Amino acid sequence: KERQPLKIMISGAPASGKGTQCELIKRKYDLVHIAAGDLLRAEIAAGTDNGKRAKEYMEKGQLVPDEIVVTMVKDRLLCPDSLDKGWLLDGYPRSSSQANALKALGFQPDLFILLEVPEGLLVERVVGRRLDPVTGKIYHLKYSPPETEEIAARLTQRFDDTEEKVKLRLRTHNQNVESVLSMYEDITVKVDGSVSKDAVFAQIDGALAKLLEIKGMTLGSV
Ligand code: AP5
Repeated sequence: KERQPLKIMISGAPASGKGTQCELIKRKYDLVHIAAGDLLRAEIAAGTDNGKRAKEYMEKGQLVPDEIVVTMVKDRLLCPDSLDKGWLLDGYPRSSSQANALKALGFQPDLFILLEVPEGLLVERVVGRRLDPVTGKIYHLKYSPPETEEIAARLTQRFDDTEEKVKLRLRTHNQNVESVLSMYEDITVKVDGSVSKDAVFAQIDGALAKLLEIKGMTLGSV
């Protein structure tokens, strides 16, 4: 039987827990995690022209133009590891034009996960978030504190993780989310993202197990 790796999209407001859940999904299902925001931050870190342009939009909490993101994500999806293992697309598509571009290229997900978190929780999650530049792991000063003093000392904060910037990012999200959702309605699973990270993962894991069953696959064959 032909092997058909899983293709999953995960969406949700800023700081709804997409990256955190992707770490857990990746660990269990061994999919290639492709995060639009991470690809853009890598461009910024590399000092490319695209990175410089992208940062201007990210500073304002706006969507980076399609001419930068569409090719960037497409190229990553077409890498051999994504084609072979399957992918977990995080924070993409974020507009109907990005969704249409994916569709035109033949990228159709099996499942669209929407993390639902009340807006009141998002600001606290953003301002408390810290990142480990060595492992790439996501922490939260209150909810997921670093395991050791050594890790605590090297944690960094994202340039757009202020209360003011998250409000702008949230506005952009609210303006675009419906148009993206409408394109994946029939394969969408809504997940309560306000509970603990393990309780959020339990819901996602249940949906993925069901999907594998429908596709007639077992975990080892993913
Ligand atoms: P991006 O990097 O994707 O940012 P975002 O969508 O705002 O999402 P975040 O990464 O902030 O949050 P997350 O949902 O991953 O939450 P996390 O797991 O870290 O995009 C940044 C910018 O790039 C955009 O503003 C835009 O300019 C541009 N961009 C990106 N994609 C684009 C696209 N497709 N088109 C155009 N432009 C694009 O969790 C957050 C915190 O909460 C952490 O501290 C975590 O430890 C904690 N936490 C997580 N889960 C829980 C839980 N269950 N309980 C308690 N705390 C929790």
